[in-house]
Amino acid sequence: MTERFDKAAETWDKGDMRQNIAHSVFQTLSSRISLLNHMEIMDFGAGTGLLSFKIARQVKRVTGVDLSEKMLEQLISKNNDLMEVKTVCRDIMKSPLDMTFHGIVSSMAMHHVEDTAGLFKTFHGHLKRDGFIAIADLESEDGTFHSHGNEGVYHFGFERDTLRHTIEEAGFEHVRFHHAYTVEKEGSDYPIFLVTAIKKS
Ligand SMILES: C[S@@+](CC[C@H](N)C(=O)[O-])C[C@H]1O[C@@H](n2cnc3c(N)ncnc32)[C@H](O)[C@@H]1O
Repeated sequence: MTERFDKAAETWDKGDMRQNIAHSVFQTLSSRISLLNHMEIMDFGAGTGLLSFKIARQVKRVTGVDLSEKMLEQLISKNNDLMEVKTVCRDIMKSPLDMTFHGIVSSMAMHHVEDTAGLFKTFHGHLKRDGFIAIADLESEDGTFHSHGNEGVYHFGFERDTLRHTIEEAGFEHVRFHHAYTVEKEGSDYPIFLVTAIKKS
């Protein structure tokens, strides 16, 4: 799976689709959640930082977590004197970070993680009191979204009620789904949701 993203890294930002997804996810997220200038935010599966840099303008610091060194190299190449996104190349489910965050954001990474319940428990453990999650991914699809093949794709999108239950079981409350964007390609529509929730105290 990491190999898939290492290979794609150099051309990841080309074309409109991924830019449009990141833009719409950011718009939806920032209309639902107040991003404040004291906040430490994790972007899980940050990739080349398409979402991270939009968030970074509003908060104290964004840490992009990813398994692909090449995707993170692309992200790092966008850092400059005015804006820097920190990076961590690590499987935080196996080896958690020794810091906590005010919020965790993510776009289009969750379907690449097999153990969804474990992922939300990991998020829970990385959040400060009252911390939030804002996670965007595909609604249930028929397996045709990834036109280059489904290697490393563990979920063909997510069914909302099942995911809500998983998130609540991991210790979150106020779980809300919002429509973020619809990818239109090859005659099919692939809607993307943003799910937000708060760590239960
Ligand atoms: C579809 S890309 C999305 C990248 C970026 N969020 C975007 O919207 O352009 C998914 C990213 O998740 C990363 N990823 C997959 N599984 C991961 C895991 N267990 N931990 C951290 N990153 C992971 C991949 O390496 C890849 O960079």
